[in-house]
Amino acid sequence: MATQPGQDRIIGVDIGGTGIKGALVDLKEGKLAASRVRLSTPHPATPSAVAKTVAEVLGQIDAEGPVGLTLPAVVRGGTVETASNIDHEWIGTDAVDLFSRTTGRLVAVVNDADAAGLAEVHFGAGRSVSGVIALITLGTGIGSAVVVDGTLVPNTELGHLPLHHGDAEDWAAESIREHDDLSWKEYARRLQAYLELVQRLLWPQLIIIGGGVSASAHKYLPKIELRTPVVPAQLLNDAGIIGAAMFAASVEFATKA
Ligand code: BGC
Repeated sequence: MATQPGQDRIIGVDIGGTGIKGALVDLKEGKLAASRVRLSTPHPATPSAVAKTVAEVLGQIDAEGPVGLTLPAVVRGGTVETASNIDHEWIGTDAVDLFSRTTGRLVAVVNDADAAGLAEVHFGAGRSVSGVIALITLGTGIGSAVVVDGTLVPNTELGHLPLHHGDAEDWAAESIREHDDLSWKEYARRLQAYLELVQRLLWPQLIIIGGGVSASAHKYLPKIELRTPVVPAQLLNDAGIIGAAMFAASVEFATKA
């Protein structure tokens, strides 16, 4: 069975460190088609515990059909390859197999920042821009999505670019700003250095800043000077759910049915 051609509503589920959020998504409008369901992420967030909670979230959503899911990790061909900020048991897990067995549905699994990037480029801050767009999410870690003329280049992981002799995310993530109690001025200086690196690598048409801290963008973006336009994300909390559903809509399910 494949996704119905022209299917315009698919469920998206965003799996984060604190919450697992899902909703039916209207793919034509790029919006939630019904209110979202949220359950707390289990601790420890092992694959089996997370899959069980995902099944509970789906049980509260009144819709059938395939599901798109995000994970904060490299997901290649349905298998989780990395676990920077998640339980290490995920490494090597065939997430498509796990979630389809636990939920009894066709599933597609995508990196969390990649999902947010798809949503922002098609329906949010990047919708009128063509060429290369980079979305950078600032949260517990740093995630990235690179989208070229609407097509995602998955798993770019620009949060792990080397900066100051370490991973960029260990220096410039939102969690570091909070932990080190950095002023917005100091945080902007760190972001400046990091975004210069992203610019040097890709020279994108646009950089979109996502993650929870994008809601406070007015506090640090005006201090950043870059030749590339840098704008805050627009879909905020819903980008992961919407992008997960978009990703599922783009997947050919025939071999996984
Ligand atoms: C992970 C990425 C993820 C990002 C945001 C990073 O630590 O390596 O896969 O997209 O955090 O959650």
